[in-house]
Amino acid sequence: MNKLKNDTFLRALLRQPTEHTPIWLMRQAGRYLPEYCETRRRAGNFMNLCKNPRMACEVTLQPLARYDLDAAILFSDILTVPDAMGLGLYFAEGEGPKFERPLREEWEIRNLAAPDPGVELRYVMDAVAEIRRALDNSVPLIGFSGSPFTLACYMIEGGASDDFRTIKSMLYDRPDLLHHVLAVNAEAVTAYLNAQIECGAQAVMIFDTWGGTLSQRAYKEFSLAYMQRIVEGLTREHGGARIPSIVFTKGGGQWLEDITSIGCDAVGLDWTTDIGAARRRVGDKVALQGNLDPMTLFAQPDKIAQEACAILDAFGPGSGHVFNLGHGISQFTPPEHVAALVNAVHEHSRKLRQT
Ligand code: CP3
Repeated sequence: MNKLKNDTFLRALLRQPTEHTPIWLMRQAGRYLPEYCETRRRAGNFMNLCKNPRMACEVTLQPLARYDLDAAILFSDILTVPDAMGLGLYFAEGEGPKFERPLREEWEIRNLAAPDPGVELRYVMDAVAEIRRALDNSVPLIGFSGSPFTLACYMIEGGASDDFRTIKSMLYDRPDLLHHVLAVNAEAVTAYLNAQIECGAQAVMIFDTWGGTLSQRAYKEFSLAYMQRIVEGLTREHGGARIPSIVFTKGGGQWLEDITSIGCDAVGLDWTTDIGAARRRVGDKVALQGNLDPMTLFAQPDKIAQEACAILDAFGPGSGHVFNLGHGISQFTPPEHVAALVNAVHEHSRKLRQT
């Protein structure tokens, strides 16, 4: 196996020393980049882009050509899994993701089955392999999936929701049905992430975008327990290398100790948590990833640098920090502001290591 030229991201996830704090950005390949919009136009729509491994590879590499990022993330979407379960994913212009056949009836839920990632999600596996080849061991490739609960939100609501009325009604009135959906999702996600690892993903991240909308008790029972099941079933090593896992619950700052206890290597933080206080709470159990407010990128470059430095200073000396935004980058972000952020994180974190 060839050695990575830049493995700072993987080392930071394992809390090993690095020369600088590695940085990547959630949704780093996306609509804020004109070259992404151009490739998407050629693909016709977003799902065609996801389903074409050559084009998925092309957009994955676009942010790395522009910026000195320390990791690449597979270009795909969390909703490819329920799509492979037969729910019929589509993107209505300006409305976000939708399902043609959301899960509503008990019989539909009882019939739900985990897809075979090597068959229904072959196009994702082909993209992972193609991206790994194209990266040529420059930086590591992150694979990802949605959390069982976050996937269930879209599967049951049928799309985005303001209040999660349908899934929460099920959670309180028919917890048995929701538990069944979550168990199938957990099985599907475990197989899906392990297949990505098999095809070349060097770290994996679970996106729990909506777990933070739950009550504390419901979070543990309906979101965290299923992420724990996945983490326990993940391939820990591949080709002689450790495959670190990252768990990110948006709005999960108050449950940090609980998240830390499920066995993941790193925990993602949104921007509402003080990363210094978070570090004191998790101790040496996990690495932390985050946590700049994505809207900071609309400020002037010197202000962006100042805010980034404040996060690095709050984390403090020593290893175990991967810099990121606290959520996905906005499509309206000026691309040149991203360069200011990446450079500030690298420069300031190098300086911190010299003092
Ligand atoms: O980070 C990356 O660059 C990798 C690619 C990636 C996408 N989606 C591409 C995408 C990743 C990791 C995701 C995860 C994802 N998808 C999540 C979890 C993270 C989060 O943002 O909370 C969720 C909830 C989804 C579901 C989803 N997909 C939504 C709600 C939308 C619409 C968002 C919007 O801004 O319109 C998508 C579409 C999507 N996924 C886009 C991209 C680049 C925009 C699609 C386009 O080109 O029109």
